[in-house]
Amino acid sequence: MADPSSVLVLSSTEEQLIPKPEFPDELFKDDFDKVYEPWEDTYLLIEAIEKDLKIIKDMNPLVCVEVGCGSGAVITSVAKSLGPYQRLYIGTDFNGQALLTTKKCGIVNGVAGCVQLVHNDLTTTIEDRLKNRVDLLMFNSPYRKSRPDEVGVSEVKSAWCAGINGRAIIDRFLETVPKLLSPTGVLYLMSIAVNNIHEIENRMKSLGFQMEISLEKQTIYENAPEHIYALKFTRLHQVEN
Ligand SMILES: C[S@@+](CC[C@H](N)C(=O)[O-])C[C@H]1O[C@@H](n2cnc3c(N)ncnc32)[C@H](O)[C@@H]1O
Repeated sequence: MADPSSVLVLSSTEEQLIPKPEFPDELFKDDFDKVYEPWEDTYLLIEAIEKDLKIIKDMNPLVCVEVGCGSGAVITSVAKSLGPYQRLYIGTDFNGQALLTTKKCGIVNGVAGCVQLVHNDLTTTIEDRLKNRVDLLMFNSPYRKSRPDEVGVSEVKSAWCAGINGRAIIDRFLETVPKLLSPTGVLYLMSIAVNNIHEIENRMKSLGFQMEISLEKQTIYENAPEHIYALKFTRLHQVEN
């Protein structure tokens, strides 16, 4: 096999502030049987970050965390844009194969080894260490309705199955955000209309965060319309770090 680090790589154009990673078929053909393949939600999340790229750069984030990194498309793009070896990048996933794919994504796209990979349920084992230190937090969470017993059962299914209202994972994750985010930190979270984003907004308000819809898009999933949102959260009040 060719040295993957020589394979290039990013489809950067002058207009693209955040280059989208490449997943050459010959290198990734088996990965997406077991790992979530980048889809429209993945790219909407990248675009939401791209929209705020100047603000994010001015904030000078030192710790950037993607929960549920899957293929690594998002964290790789972010690392490429913000400087791969100048900040701490962490990707978590409870699908061990996703961490291998994220690692390969980094190699193939020229940011080898810059993402620290943590095999984790959300951020369970690292959140004490990260307490109020995460400047940029990202999660394209599972968000589709499913039977409760489908949540977290098999590796690929876990990427989208999220219980009765599609919020089984999102709701659990939201409770961790106050502990993770730094005083000026920002969270980008993906969601769909069926999740009821007003309930998400209210829950986050009660936890001390304001929500804005950064980007939204009408798309089609399994022949039915689906409205996806990239939600952005920042603290309502300053907190002691
Ligand atoms: C919709 S996919 C998104 C993957 C990738 N971030 C992207 O945007 O293409 C959701 C990801 O979250 C992971 N995941 C689901 N539940 C999780 C949990 N409790 N803890 C950690 N990762 C989880 C899945 O394995 C999957 O990789």
